[in-house]
Amino acid sequence: MSVSRKMPKDFFWGNSVSSMQTEGAWNIDGKGLSVYDVRPATDKTSDWHDAIDEYHRYDEDLDLMKSMHMNMYRIQVSWSRVVPDGDGEFNEAGLAFYDRLVNAMLKRGITPMICLYHFDMPLALAKKENGFMSRHTVDAFVRFGKKVIDHFADRVHYWITFNEHNLYFSDEVFNISGYTKGDRSLNDMYTIFHHTMLAHAQLDAYVHVHYADLKFGGMLADTPVYPATAKPNDVFAARQLDQFSNQNLNEAFVYGHYDHEVLTYIKNHDIDYDLQPGDNEILAKMHADFISFSYYRTTTINADKIPAGTAPNRYLNYGMESNRFLDANEWDWTIDPLGFRTLITDLYNRYQVPVFPIENGIGISEHWDGQHMIEDDLRIKYHAEHIKAMKDAMFIDGAKVLGYLGWGLIDIPSSHADIEKRYGVVYVNRSNHDLKDLKRVPKKSFYWLQALLEKNGDEL
Ligand code: BG6
Repeated sequence: MSVSRKMPKDFFWGNSVSSMQTEGAWNIDGKGLSVYDVRPATDKTSDWHDAIDEYHRYDEDLDLMKSMHMNMYRIQVSWSRVVPDGDGEFNEAGLAFYDRLVNAMLKRGITPMICLYHFDMPLALAKKENGFMSRHTVDAFVRFGKKVIDHFADRVHYWITFNEHNLYFSDEVFNISGYTKGDRSLNDMYTIFHHTMLAHAQLDAYVHVHYADLKFGGMLADTPVYPATAKPNDVFAARQLDQFSNQNLNEAFVYGHYDHEVLTYIKNHDIDYDLQPGDNEILAKMHADFISFSYYRTTTINADKIPAGTAPNRYLNYGMESNRFLDANEWDWTIDPLGFRTLITDLYNRYQVPVFPIENGIGISEHWDGQHMIEDDLRIKYHAEHIKAMKDAMFIDGAKVLGYLGWGLIDIPSSHADIEKRYGVVYVNRSNHDLKDLKRVPKKSFYWLQALLEKNGDEL
């Protein structure tokens, strides 16, 4: 049996970033403060003020992407750059920056994808409104989103709202939603989650009513969970966690309502998630053109470690274990290409909606000696095996996949502002506390990816 592995001509290959991890320029051209801008540096990590200064260096970065034959770049439009205090005046200079960036992409044949929120709540709304705890913040986000959509609809066809939306249905929500006060209860977690889903649903409906040719989808942090053993309670915990933190959202994006197992849990535990008349009608308008996600690793759960009565949203706080069958990087993130294939195939089988992995990569600590090329063979192996696994999902399992975007393929500080955890195929010459010259230096993986994409990934 011979199976063709020729990639579709319109397949997207590219890079993916967030604003605060990339742009720098935290206080110029009228940008307001976000919660990230006021996070102090520590002895290990830097602040977010400079990142890799792409605000001023985007031409150089886009040239690098173009020379690798990339045809998509996922950026974020920062809320506090466009609406400095979150709900007041629009900052035309902020929009003008994204005009320059988007136009520079289009000039090079690079298709933009825009994400509207990546953990960086405008500081004013965090202080005044407790972030997404308040419906005022939902309205302010929808207003910001509509403005950006109207502004770019003629040039940007791919849109997502919340980066890794399922994190808003876990304890991580209290770090990424502008939450400044409260008891971190399940009521608060479910309320913020519901508010963000209402925001997503309103923008989803807006796009589909006003701009029929745009593609709009949800986005998850997909870290599939294996049971630690074949014991039924491990298997049950893994299944339940997946249902709550992944399928509950996918069902909402695709079918327009929360999952019935989650709704039953809410009812049985009297969880007050601020459901108001009309909310379910808003949710019902959701329609996903694709399901997108980040995938770095898989994890493993041991049900015996989870205290009785723990909400499924919190299982990973207690039950996580390492997986002796998998290698891992220095941060103990497993390397699991077959997990990637399983996920892609499973998502497509369940929902029959095109799937789109828009973050994938491996963090490695690397130091450039100023002279020699960085030989990042581990990164080459990681991407090669994951792309091959994705192609197995497409050509052997029959999944429809729109593209493959690597995360931070030009080095950016990791999510805890640590540039020493690098994902790039291009090195950026800075350390945590020394900006040096921010020079971009291709690693060995750059040339490998360039050769692969020149042939549209056909050779894997
Ligand atoms: C994703 C986030 O969770 O993973 C990014 O969207 C983050 O912001 C990326 O940088 C990699 O995680 P980390 O912690 O290694 O930077």
